[in-house]
Amino acid sequence: MQQIRAMRVPDIIDRKAGGKLVMLTAYDFTMARLLDRHADILLVGDTLGCVVQGHDTTLKVTLEQMIYHAGMVSRGADRALVVADLPFGTYQQGPPQALQAALRLVKESDVSAVKLEGGESVCESVRAITAAGIPVMAHLGLTPQSFHAFGGNKVQGRDAQSAARLQRDALALQQAGAFALVLEAIPAALAQEVSRRLAIPTIGIGAGPHCDGQVLVINDMIGLNSSRAPMKFNKEFCAVREAIDRAAAEFAGEVRCGAFPAPENSYAAVVGG
Ligand code: KIV
Repeated sequence: MQQIRAMRVPDIIDRKAGGKLVMLTAYDFTMARLLDRHADILLVGDTLGCVVQGHDTTLKVTLEQMIYHAGMVSRGADRALVVADLPFGTYQQGPPQALQAALRLVKESDVSAVKLEGGESVCESVRAITAAGIPVMAHLGLTPQSFHAFGGNKVQGRDAQSAARLQRDALALQQAGAFALVLEAIPAALAQEVSRRLAIPTIGIGAGPHCDGQVLVINDMIGLNSSRAPMKFNKEFCAVREAIDRAAAEFAGEVRCGAFPAPENSYAAVVGG
């Protein structure tokens, strides 16, 4: 059965008028359950390639893996809109390939919308996907699938020429039918100007305070990652890594000295059974 969630695409667009949008990434059922009542949008990001799979970039993530994770998140979300990334290599060949990948994500994992990266070059694909009734979230600025073209994860739109191109791309994506736009790692003033000019909401990550919403990668937000080089835009709102480390050390200590399991963690035989 198709899951109908409380937050729908028109609700997200309406928030342009006021009330900041909250988006977090999620990659499994348990985390989706925990975040569902706090986030307006749960993004099954292809960052799972880094924070779940341990790769250095998002480039190796496959459509099958996205479908697998997005299905888990969909089952955990009653309220938040669930959006999933089209991974690298599943839409760069053009509209037919993009539409086919988007159809599979929606049919097989029950997400309400897809996200893809890029500007004018992906507008025809955005048109094809939205024409099929699938809402599209766009993504500009530091688009991690262009890791090699950018020469790393670098702040974008700092000079006048690239700032002007980003503004053109943003307007073109809106024109093509995108319902929201992620702006990643660009100067705050540029994000403010793009947000002012667009009728659709912008959701920032490292794009300053003037976007219509904010997103963080959940593993970064809860302080779970130790290996990834932290980007300046992240803020750790709690220290889960340390909490897990302490708990695991305590468990190991109790197992080794015989304190765990205690009688209350053990089963007695049924008398006369
Ligand atoms: O893949 C992802 O998690 C993302 C967010 C960083 C916006 O695209």
